[in-house]
Parts: sequence; structure tokens; C-alpha cells
Amino acid sequence: MGSPFKALKVAEGIYWVGAIDWSVRDFHGYRTARGTTYNAYLVMGEKITLVDTVKAGFKDELLSRISDIVDPSQIDIIISNHAEMDHSGCLPDLIELARPEKVYASPKGVEALAAHFRGEMDIVAVKDGDEAIISGPDAEGGPLTVRFMQTPLLHWPDSMFSYIPERKALFCQDAFGMHLASAERFAEDIPDWLLEQEAASYFANILLPFSAMLPRLFDKVEKAGMEIALALPDHGPIWGAKFPRILELYRRWAAQAPTAKVVVVYDTMWDSTDAMARALTDGLIASGAQVKVLPLSGSHRSDIATELLDAGALVVGSPTLNGQMFPTVADALCYLKGLKKKNLVGAAFGSYGWSGESIKQVEESLTGMGVELVGSLRTQYVPEDHVLEQCRALGEQVGARITGKS
Ligand code: FEO
Repeated sequence: MGSPFKALKVAEGIYWVGAIDWSVRDFHGYRTARGTTYNAYLVMGEKITLVDTVKAGFKDELLSRISDIVDPSQIDIIISNHAEMDHSGCLPDLIELARPEKVYASPKGVEALAAHFRGEMDIVAVKDGDEAIISGPDAEGGPLTVRFMQTPLLHWPDSMFSYIPERKALFCQDAFGMHLASAERFAEDIPDWLLEQEAASYFANILLPFSAMLPRLFDKVEKAGMEIALALPDHGPIWGAKFPRILELYRRWAAQAPTAKVVVVYDTMWDSTDAMARALTDGLIASGAQVKVLPLSGSHRSDIATELLDAGALVVGSPTLNGQMFPTVADALCYLKGLKKKNLVGAAFGSYGWSGESIKQVEESLTGMGVELVGSLRTQYVPEDHVLEQCRALGEQVGARITGKS
């Protein structure tokens, strides 16, 4: 086939052959405002090796980039580091086309791929420390070996890393990735503010629920003695000299240490809950807390999750609509609950017209997330000045709690 899409050499014998998805804006509920990439890598050894594939709709782009280097039918080995469909979507087609000698995945990966594709797949399950020889010691360009390491729940139970010691290259699938479609393939060519913003968003929305086990995985990588000159994730740019920085951020985010930042999330029907939010926020500001206010009329659930990543408090306001919390509030709280953010204090507030069930529902939702409630406040119809004073006082109270002044 022709190759309108070209491969990019990233190291001696290693090529990026993935796809750029400029248009995706929703990634199972996560707003991907800057699109994404599905990265796959071709290793040109004696055994031509493909590391991961791409989302099914991007098969032509993958095949085109591979064809820029070699006929895809010549691939000898395929490694599936992660079974999620954005990386395995083209695996059955590649197996059919290349008839590779070996396909490798973790034991859980073998199970997951069989369950996803509902067919006989001849895949070899590899464990920690198993190796595959890509090139022997006498090969031109020297030997090339792939060493495997299980990294369960980074991001799925099946996830694993593959490492080529001769190139100090770590193929790390979802880890250290980000949803960022860009012309640049290397983190070194992208501004730090953008890398850190999108990496934080990715961590907050994808990896946060698994934070507790991440430090152990990073320790495992370090103990394995892997020198890492290149970290090649399945989304976003490839890390070189900036890798220590993203590793440091991952350790910080995984620790979820409480901070003096508060996120205020609310919606409103007739501006009463909005008025309460504004007074409460004034109290938070006066307390010296760092404040981020996210009205749900213009804030996406995944952007709230990102702001909450380095926060110490979550304050949620909702009107009551037909005996329920406002639907946008329910949506945000349902999403945040799944992400399991730790070490938060919080408060609930809102205006109601008739019966005012929403505040109790928000309180229950927050405590169900493990948020320690500092207080709550509800008022009927339009808040009078004394109610707004109470809102301000609640803000000061939450602020004092997270700034350590109470
Ligand atoms: Fe990018 Fe967990 O898949």
C-alpha cells in the first residue's frame, strides 16, 4: 500500500507509527478539548516488532505509517501492552494481515483480548522479567531485547510495560500519557504549561482511582534498574529529558496530599444558589484559600475533576428540582465519586422553593465520596442578607479548615 502518512524515527531502530485524532472531544465522559493520539511503535530488529496498535477507525493511518518503513505483512512480533480498545482496536486486523510468529500480552491481557474480540487468539502470556529477543547479539545494530513488566491497574488489570534496555526505551502504554493531538511528537518540543495541564487532566480523569498502588509501581520500575532515556506512552508526546519531571508530578498527584485549594461547584435555577455561591466564595477568599469556582452552566465534569486533583476542599451547591438535586450536579458528583479523590473536606449549600431535598442529597453524596463535611446551608427562595452572611461565614469556615487557621 502507499504511505500518505509517514513514520517518525524516535530512536535508532524505533519508529512512531501511531495516529493523531484531531477531532475527538469525548473520551467516555472525559472532555478531550485538544484531541488525542493513539501511539504505536515499530521496532526494526531482526524480528520486526509492533508495540500496540490504534483505535479501530485509524487502521489506515497505522498501516500507512508502518508501510513507510516496512510492509506490514513482514511484522514478526506484536506486543499488546494494554487491551483497552484505543490500543488494541486494530490488533485482530494486524494479526490477520501479518500472521506474526508471536503476540505477547500479560496474562490478564490474554484474557481481556479474548473477551473483547470473542475469538481464538494465539497470544503468549508474559510475566515480570520475561524477555523476547528482537535481535541477536551479532545482529547489525547490536542485540535488541524486550523485557516485560506487569503494571496492573495502570490503567487496567491487564496493563504492562515493555522495556528495551539497549535503547533505554520504556513503552509505558497509558502511564505518563495525555490527550493532546499535536504536530510535535516529543515533550521537549511542547511548552511545560501545556504538558502539565494535559498530564494533570489525564491523571485526574483516568488514573486517580488507582493512586494508592502507583507509588509501588514506580518503586518497582526503579528497583528493576531500568534506566529510562525515552518513555513512550500510548497517548500524547514521548518523554525524553523531561521524564523525571512527569514522574515527580505523578508521585505528587498519587499522594493526594491536602492543600489550601477549594473547588466550588454549583448550578442555579433562578440565581438564588448563584448568589449563595458568590457570598460563600467571598468568605473563602477572605480566609486566604486558593479558590476555583466552576458553575456547571459552563463547566464540564472532567474539568472539575482536573481542578480537584490538587485541591483540599470541594463545596457543592444545588437547587432542588422536583425533589432531586439539579441534574448537572448529580452528573458531576456521580463522575467524581468514581474517581475516588482522597483527603477532601467539603460543604453543601443551595436554595429551594418547596421541600429542599437537594442539600441532604448532596451531603449524602459527598460523605459517600469520603468527603468530611464542614457544614451545610440551605435557604428557601431568594437568600436575604443574613443568609448571605451565613454563606460567607461557611466559606470562611471551610477556608480556615484547609488553610490550617481553625
Ligand atoms: Fe488509552 Fe486505558 O487506554
